[in-house]
Amino acid sequence: MAGGFSVSASASASSGTEFEAKITPIVIISCIMAATGGLMFGYDVGISGGVTSMDDFLREFFPTVLKKKHEDKESNYCKYDNQGLQLFTSSLYLAGLTATFFASYTTRRLGRRLTMLIAGVFFIVGVIFNGAAQNLTMLIIGRILLGCGVGFANQAVPLFLSEIAPTRIRGGLNILFQLNVTIGILFANLVNYGTAKIHPWGWRLSLSLAGIPAGLLTLGALFVVDTPNSLIERGRLEDGKAVLKKIRGTDNVEPEFNEIVAASRVAQEVKHPFRNLLQRRNRPQLVIAVLLQIFQQFAGINAIMFYAPVLFNTLGFQSDASLYSAVITGAVNLLATLVSVYSVDRVGRRMLLLEAGVQMFLSQVAIAVVLGIKVTDRSDNLGHGWAIMVVVMVCIYVSSFAWSWGPLAWLIPSETFPLETRSVGQSITVCVNLLFTFVIAQAFLSMLCHLKYAIFAFFSAWVVVMSLFVLFFLPETKNVPIEEMTERVWKQHWFWQRFMDGDNHHIVNSAGKINTV
Ligand code: BGC
Repeated sequence: MAGGFSVSASASASSGTEFEAKITPIVIISCIMAATGGLMFGYDVGISGGVTSMDDFLREFFPTVLKKKHEDKESNYCKYDNQGLQLFTSSLYLAGLTATFFASYTTRRLGRRLTMLIAGVFFIVGVIFNGAAQNLTMLIIGRILLGCGVGFANQAVPLFLSEIAPTRIRGGLNILFQLNVTIGILFANLVNYGTAKIHPWGWRLSLSLAGIPAGLLTLGALFVVDTPNSLIERGRLEDGKAVLKKIRGTDNVEPEFNEIVAASRVAQEVKHPFRNLLQRRNRPQLVIAVLLQIFQQFAGINAIMFYAPVLFNTLGFQSDASLYSAVITGAVNLLATLVSVYSVDRVGRRMLLLEAGVQMFLSQVAIAVVLGIKVTDRSDNLGHGWAIMVVVMVCIYVSSFAWSWGPLAWLIPSETFPLETRSVGQSITVCVNLLFTFVIAQAFLSMLCHLKYAIFAFFSAWVVVMSLFVLFFLPETKNVPIEEMTERVWKQHWFWQRFMDGDNHHIVNSAGKINTV
């Protein structure tokens, strides 16, 4: 009887529908808890811009920048161009990208859940160093520890979400990670808005309140169950099956269980994960994961997220007004991410990315034109009307990023790698993301100083390139079960199928049996 059931479920799985799975409370709660890893990432992204534009903070750690800021002589675009200040923002990303290689090991060997717990502990210690910082060294050490947390969290959370989610809402659940990133950024902006008025220790409060997301992730990691894929990959087959039954809300999990077991057999053969990742058959996922991260960062989002207050200040907004504008962009970022949660499994990944490409391009060009005409080196008065126009354009840009490249650059790599390369693939994803986040964080203020308004034209050119890439090379992955990507996506794609020759992967036949072909 059970066999009969699995035949039909399995057959339907490979013909386009999916395994039996209810949307159970435990899945939703686990995802919400795990996704708080994104909260911390977002808070770190959002907090530094506001803090680095606070005079009290600059006086304590970067007195030369403070002097420059208040001297009228300096070109508007160059006031904040200081390597030390940029290092404060970007040290976190350097640490994160290094940590991710260790995280790759822990996600494979210890599981997704424990890796999240490690991240939480790093975050907590990092927050203590930051909040109590007496000198630049403590400040940077704190940022480095937070970076390690980001490396571990961004490695484990997207995988956890993609693996635990039922196929038909996988995109939406995975985007809870990005939703938390945007909540973190907004929360940070709001905090900065308030603490900027508390002298002289407001910045300390800003850095310390990161303890809230850090605590939430740690607690969350203590309560969630690990994913069936990870349990099975580590040889705990019975535990994996029990979890699968629990999260799917049914006893009929045999077809999905078999598919994961088959994938994990292949995974267990792998002795050198990084070398395996470089094999020809893994090329499509690898190329796409790497390019998505580079593109995500060259879309220019963090120029706005890190430096919105600084940027708006540069444009002639008063300090308070600029933090206020950063709060608006933060809110738009969050709301637009909800659009993505809703639509990603309906209209699909490609549609969102392509539509957003057009919107991002047009808004960036408009910003470049207004700034080019209106902001000169010495006169920083954009004028009320134009200033509002820039904020509106920034919001249009941010919203399109938020329903496309923001979440999808995390979602797509986490769902396209087969189990055997998923951990290591994700670590490359995180590493490249943080590397390019670092590049932008470190270079943006200097680029702003040298390129001026043309920096937005620079980003818009990238948007064209990445949209063309999506158009021709990115396959649609909506509604495809996670362990069936090779068969149903890569082997069918006009370009990538050539890398699948000689692929001797497992296939689960319609009787739920594993065949190697
Ligand atoms: C990116 C971050 C960015 C954030 C903005 C994330 O997906 O990885 O670099 O700051 O989106 O919401």
